[in-house]
Amino acid sequence: MKVAVLTGGGDCPGLNAVIRAVVRRASLHGFEMMGLRDGWKGLLEDNHFRLTRETTSGILHRGGTILGTSRTNPFKVENGLERVKRAVERNNIHAIIAIGGEGTLSAATRLSQEGLRIVGVPKTIDNDLNGTDFTFGFDTAVTIATEAIDRLHSTAESHKRVIVCEVMGRHVGWIATYAGIAGGADVILVPEMPVELPRVAEHIQSRHASGRSFSIVVVAEGTRIRIAEEEEGQLVTSGALDEAGRPRLGGVGAIVAQEIERRTGYETRVSVLGHIQRGGAPTAHDRVLATRYGVHACDMVARGEFGKMAALKGNEIVSVDLSEATRELKKVPPEFFEVAQVFFG
Ligand code: F6P
Repeated sequence: MKVAVLTGGGDCPGLNAVIRAVVRRASLHGFEMMGLRDGWKGLLEDNHFRLTRETTSGILHRGGTILGTSRTNPFKVENGLERVKRAVERNNIHAIIAIGGEGTLSAATRLSQEGLRIVGVPKTIDNDLNGTDFTFGFDTAVTIATEAIDRLHSTAESHKRVIVCEVMGRHVGWIATYAGIAGGADVILVPEMPVELPRVAEHIQSRHASGRSFSIVVVAEGTRIRIAEEEEGQLVTSGALDEAGRPRLGGVGAIVAQEIERRTGYETRVSVLGHIQRGGAPTAHDRVLATRYGVHACDMVARGEFGKMAALKGNEIVSVDLSEATRELKKVPPEFFEVAQVFFG
């Protein structure tokens, strides 16, 4: 039985660990494994190669994905659905394991409703997928961002500056909240909470008035900024669109820094972590989570559990409906954010 695997969307530490685990487990079930290059594009363009124990050895710790990735959505390509169906038939593919985030799993959900046999694996550093407690890649991004915040502390303190650290996360503040708590940030700004820069500036001023000489502000890239109370919060984008047609986020940190400096008079700098959060080796935690997802996904194929996704609930890996993943964005709950707020000031 031939099973294809693909990685779609932004890359993420742990993708290779999932691929390796799927291939290892496949030998138990007697599956022949095929790797699709560059996500759904690999099916549309019939671009694939055989995955074996040999071709997937030594990749557990490696960042990126040996399969390549793209944000190609078969439903946005002319005759995409027909081309996917034809490729599946022509190559005699019994099932597809789709490792991806919101875009990849939305397409997976629609394809499975069209009758394709698909199993999903939740991937994203943003941790915004519903139906699972955590996605793999998130822990690595938080670890990298925390280390960066630690480093920003010492330079901010030496120069008596405010430093604004912009982290990724798209429309949710999971990375900002976790890294902010772990790094001891003085203010954390996230899309889930209303942000008024005059309040942020006042807060920093009162902190410095009580004897502190520096501050660290962590801001999630998707935070909507309200400069004055009456203005609508605005999303800051580069103006460009990504491959999937979504606005590319980024730049909010510079606006926050500028506004803090203007309002407080304190020298302020911004540091944008960007793709450093996504590159390189996964943490041990992500390697284990990704491995567990990969083994479970392969077993799901063997059991015929299609239209479902491997998910983490507590410490158990379970199977949930694929449509659950993208039903809504998984946001940082207010009660969790309250823990971070205890340390502001
Ligand atoms: O979804 C993962 C992510 O890294 C987001 O945090 C970020 O907004 C986006 O992808 C950036 O994607 P790219 O620069 O690869 O288009």
